[in-house]
Amino acid sequence: MIDSLKRLEYRGYDSAGVAALVDGRIERRRAKGKIRELEAVLADQPLTSVVGIGHTRWATHGPPTEPNAHPHKAGRVAVVHNGIIENFAELKAELEAAGRVFESQTDTEVVAHLIDARLDAGDEPMTAFKTVLDRLSGAYALGVLIEGHDDLILGARKGSPLVVGWGDGEMYLGSDALAVGPFTQQISYLEEGDYVALTRDGADIRDNQGRKANRPVVVVSASAAMVEKGEYRHFMEKEIHEQPDSVQHTLSAYLDLVAQKVKPQDAIDLTKVSRIQIVACGTAFYAGEIARYAFERLAGVPCDVEIASEFRYRSPALTPGTLVVAVSQSGETADTLASLTWCKAQGFDTAAVVNVHTSSMAREAAAMWPTWAGPEIGVASTKAFTAQVAALLSLALAAGVARGRVAPDEEARLVKALFEAPRLIAETLQADDDLKAVAHDLSKASDVLFLGRGVMYPLAMEGALKLKEISYIHAEGYAAGELKHGPIALVDEETPVIALAPMDEVFEKTASNLQEVAARGGPVVMITAKGAPSPHGAAVRRVEIPACDPFIAPLVYAVPVQLLAYYTAVEKGTDVDQPRNLAKSVTVE
Ligand code: F6R
Repeated sequence: MIDSLKRLEYRGYDSAGVAALVDGRIERRRAKGKIRELEAVLADQPLTSVVGIGHTRWATHGPPTEPNAHPHKAGRVAVVHNGIIENFAELKAELEAAGRVFESQTDTEVVAHLIDARLDAGDEPMTAFKTVLDRLSGAYALGVLIEGHDDLILGARKGSPLVVGWGDGEMYLGSDALAVGPFTQQISYLEEGDYVALTRDGADIRDNQGRKANRPVVVVSASAAMVEKGEYRHFMEKEIHEQPDSVQHTLSAYLDLVAQKVKPQDAIDLTKVSRIQIVACGTAFYAGEIARYAFERLAGVPCDVEIASEFRYRSPALTPGTLVVAVSQSGETADTLASLTWCKAQGFDTAAVVNVHTSSMAREAAAMWPTWAGPEIGVASTKAFTAQVAALLSLALAAGVARGRVAPDEEARLVKALFEAPRLIAETLQADDDLKAVAHDLSKASDVLFLGRGVMYPLAMEGALKLKEISYIHAEGYAAGELKHGPIALVDEETPVIALAPMDEVFEKTASNLQEVAARGGPVVMITAKGAPSPHGAAVRRVEIPACDPFIAPLVYAVPVQLLAYYTAVEKGTDVDQPRNLAKSVTVE
C-alpha cells in the first residue's frame, strides 16, 4: 500500500494514512506530512493484514493534521475519499443530532458515519453503501472497509476517477492505474456513478441505477500509466475529463470549505498591492483576462493583463506598488519568463501562477502560486487553463477579503460556489451528445465566431484559439457587443456563431446580440444554462449545461468550449494531441 501511495504523491502529500482489518477489527496508522512519515509510523507499529485502504491527502477541508488524515473511521467503517462532499454540513448536523460524535474537521467523515448508521439499521454493506451514495452531492471517489467483512472493499466513482485492478485471487482499487501498478496491469476503469464491491475473487460492479455493469479489462503498463491515455482516445480528452479533480486540487490550495474561508496568502501582502499586472501567453493570457474581472470587482485593485511578447518590448510604465503576476502552465515560456525577470529587476513584487512547481518561473518569482492540474501532455491546454482560473479566482477573493471589501458571509458564499465547480464540471462532461452533434456541423465550416460578454469574452477567445489550434478551422472570439462594429459583416449561413451565455447579469444583452446575428441568417449555437430563456423570436440551437453561480461560470463553460474543439478535431481526423506547427512549451521568443 505504501508503494501505491507513493505513486499518488503527485496529487498531494500533506498527510497520509492506512487502515487494515486485523483480526476482524479496523486498525489505523496515520501521519501528518509526506508518506515517508507514515512509513516511519508503520516501521514502529507495523500492520499485518491482507485487506486495507490507504490515502495520501491534499487538504481540502480542515488543516493537514493527523486527525484530519484519511482513512476516517466511524463505528465499524473506515473510508478514504478524493473529492468534495458538498452537502457535508447538512449531513453532519443531522448525524450530530442523532448523537454521533465527529473526530475530524473533514467532509469525508460523514460518509463513514452514514454507512455505519445504515449498517446499524440492518442493511447489507452494498445496500447501505448505495443508500448513502444517493444522499451525497459533490464529486468523489471512495474506498470503504467494514469490520466483520474481511473479504470486502467497497468503492464508488462520481466525478473523480477510480479503477479496479484484477489480480489472481486478489483485487485492487485505485485512484488511477499507476496506483495499482505494483500489483497488476489488468485494469477496469469505473464509469460515472459506478459503485463496486471487491472480494478476493472478483468485482461486482454496478451502474448508478444499481444494475450489474461489465467494464472492459484493459492492460496498462505500470511504468507508463501516468503518461498513458488510459480509457481515453487522446491525452486532451483525458485531461478534459480530469478537470473535476484538477480544479478541486487547485481550489483546495487556496480555500478551506469547512471554514468557508480563503487561506491566508503569506507570501504577498495583498493589502499593499496598488495594481496588478498579469503577463502570460496564449491560453494562460485568457485565464489572466478572466482574472481581471475578479480582481477589480472583488478586490477593487486595478488589473492589467498583457501578452508577454508585447509587454516585454514596450518599456511598460508600471507604477510603484504593482504586483506582477506571470501565469504559465510550463513556467518556462520564454516571453513570460523574460517579462517576469525584467519586472523583478525593476524592483517590483512578483508572483508566478505555474503548474510546474520546479520551473524557472516558480524559482524566479518572489511568490509561487501553484496550480494543481498534474502533468498536461496534450499540446492544447485544457486542465491547466481551468486550474489557472480556479487559482486566480481564489486569489482575487483572498485579495478582496484581505482588503476588507468582501464581508465574511459573501466570502463563505463564494467559497461554497467555487467548491461546486468540480461537480458541475463533471455533470457538464456527462451531457456531451449535443456538443458532438454541433461539432459534426462545425467540422464542415471554414470560419467560426465565438461570442461572449464579461468573463465569457476571454473564454470566447479561448474557444476560438482551441478550435483553430486543433481543428485548423479559422475562428475568432469577440465581445458580443462589439460584433455590430464590424465583425457582423462576416455573418452568413455558412458561418456558425457560438455564443457563451450563462445566466449572469449581462445575459439579456448577449441574447439581444444573438437576435442581431440570427436576423442576418447566421446559424447560432447558444451554450447556456438549463432553464435559461432563448432570445425572443430568434432561431437558435441550444446546448444546455447545468446552471451555476456566475462567479464560477468560466470554470464550467470552459468544458463545452474545450469539448467542441476536441470533437470537431476528432471529426476532422487531425492530430489532436500534437497539432501541426506547435510545441507544448515555447522556450523561444
Ligand atoms: C493553447 C496553449 C498555448 C499556451 C501558451 C503558454 O492551447 O496551450 O497557447 O497556453 O503557449 O504556455 P504556458 O502556459 O506554458 O506559459
